[in-house]
Parts: sequence; C-alpha cells; structure tokens
Amino acid sequence: MNILVIHGPNLNLLGRREPDHYGILTLDMINALLQEAAQKARIAISFYQSNAEGELVDAVQKAIGVFDGIVINPGAYTHTSIALRDAILAAGIPVVEVHLSNIYCREDFRQHSYISGVALGVISGFREQSYLLGLQALIAHADRKPG
Ligand code: DQA
Repeated sequence: MNILVIHGPNLNLLGRREPDHYGILTLDMINALLQEAAQKARIAISFYQSNAEGELVDAVQKAIGVFDGIVINPGAYTHTSIALRDAILAAGIPVVEVHLSNIYCREDFRQHSYISGVALGVISGFREQSYLLGLQALIAHADRKPG
C-alpha cells in the first residue's frame, strides 16, 4: 500500500502559525510521526506541500496509478476550491480529509468544505492526531475492500 499525504497552503508554517488552533508541531515533526506510523503498518508513505492551488491539483492528478490513498489537509482551499474537489473526483483515489483544528467550531466561512463531499470521510480537531487517524482510516478502508 502506497499513501500520499498532501498539505495545503500555510501548513509549511506550522509550529509558529496560530498555535492555539494548530498546535506547536512543525510540518516536519508531523511528517515524522506519519512516517513512523507507516513503517509500523508496513506501508509506503510520501509527503507533498504546496501553497498553490494548481500545484495541489497537479499532485492529485499525478497520484493516479501511483498511490492507493491520499490523506489531505487542503488548508484554506477546503473552503474555496472546486478545482481540488474536481481533481479528487477525477482521480478516483480514496481520500481522507483532515484538519488540525475543528473547523466546525470556528468562523462560519470555515464550516463549509468543498472537499468533504468527495472524501471517504473527514477528521477535524485533533491537531496532529487528525493526520494519524486519517492514515489509520485509509488503511482500515483498504483492508475492508475485497481484492
Ligand atoms: C485547517 C483549517 C482551515 O480552515 C485553515 O485555512 C487551515 C488549516 C486545519 O488544519 O485546521 O489552513 O485546514
């Protein structure tokens, strides 16, 4: 099993960015936790971060035929990007949407996601654990699938 983790805009600033919402871990620290969990589960994992919407769309397209699942934190594009939603739909790869903060406890504009409707599921509000739970959910989904 080969998993891609995609981090959207401003997540490269984790550690110093609004720690009350996003915690104190850097992106590298979160990726290291995911790497460790993947190793334990004996699966391959890769990481990608971009601040640009088109580059995130490209990453989803390039995942076709390469990755079996995607854990994505689309950052602010969660609330704006029909292009990212369409890419996920077109790719047909199982996607789990994750958020560090609980977007449903925050401003009104964060409470709508264009991605949720095309994701397997959403995990929001558990800081770095959201990513680890997202990875676990993808593995469980793959184990459930016949073939
Ligand atoms: C976020 C929530 C988004 O609303 C915000 O724009 C982010 C981070 C989260 O992980 O909680 O950049 O996706």
